[in-house]
Amino acid sequence: MPQTVDHVRLSRDGRALVILDQSRLPNHSEYIVLASAEAMYEAIKSLRVRGAPAIGIFAGFAMYVLARRMDMNSRAAFDKEFFEKSAYLNSSRPTAVNLSWALKRMEGVLSAHGELSPGELLPLLKAEAQAILDEDIAMCKAISEYGLSLLKEGDGVLTHCNAGPIATSRYGTAIGPLILGAEKGISFRAFADETRPLLQGARLTSYELQKAGVDVTLICDNMASIVMKNGWVQYCFVGCDRVAANGDAANKIGTSGVAILAKHYGIPFYVLGPTSTVDMNCPDGEHIEIELREGSEIREKWYSEPMAPEGVKCYNPAFDVTDHELISGIITEKGICRPPYTESLKKLFE
Ligand code: MRU
Repeated sequence: MPQTVDHVRLSRDGRALVILDQSRLPNHSEYIVLASAEAMYEAIKSLRVRGAPAIGIFAGFAMYVLARRMDMNSRAAFDKEFFEKSAYLNSSRPTAVNLSWALKRMEGVLSAHGELSPGELLPLLKAEAQAILDEDIAMCKAISEYGLSLLKEGDGVLTHCNAGPIATSRYGTAIGPLILGAEKGISFRAFADETRPLLQGARLTSYELQKAGVDVTLICDNMASIVMKNGWVQYCFVGCDRVAANGDAANKIGTSGVAILAKHYGIPFYVLGPTSTVDMNCPDGEHIEIELREGSEIREKWYSEPMAPEGVKCYNPAFDVTDHELISGIITEKGICRPPYTESLKKLFE
């Protein structure tokens, strides 16, 4: 039986993608059906599907769905359209490497089977998308186990953004250890930064942790320092969108500030992510493209009326890069990498 997750899945007839619209959480659990490349692009861009691994899983199934609608009579025409659609989806958001990583895996099916007809390729494409999902499920479980091995009962863990089940497949990465701990009857105290401007921490992390029975306290981003000063935080666990070969790690905007604070207070700061998020072709954080988003997300969102003057200039980078020197360890499904990361990350791929 193929494994499934509820928040990114194929429709019954396999001709469309069904996803939980994360932009509507926590008040509305709405599922949307996507069948065109344009709708899929929009879903990524608008963060209806978000979180680096979940975007990768989505991209795998998306390419299968799109492939089913392509010209089945000519392999050349099929390939051309497949690569065009893949490039189009890849242009939706630049920072999370899992998107291009998953699309390359799907393209690899075509490259490895030049002899097959489009119809013969379809089951292979479906199997590759399924493999991306299955592997992520296993990776998240292993990451959660490694993260859990660092913690002792009652520890306080601060996290930023959302790196939970809906951002991945199951368990998640950064909050996976807390959810796994709850399953095993071990309790921790989680602190979730609300994560301006799109509130992934408030809307998604506190929602997922509460649902899993974890003791979670929601704080505004500018409260992390006092919470650390109070002695309530023993570890910072965050996710990642792209880890460079030297250990610099891109994650949701504000993550690097948390790492700087953690250093000040002597709190270990860990980045958790699957090896699919490690980009060995990217030498350091300087080479990670940071997505810039609309200023309206800062000016106009969430309140019943805008809380900033109309037209005020805004700067809205979606991610920042945490310098590897601030990172105590990078937890992957293959174990906990320690500095120097140029060596420990390289070993992951040997
Ligand atoms: O803009 P988002 O919500 O897609 O940003 C997501 C994050 O920064 C997550 O922390 C990261 O993708 C890891 S998800 C396991």
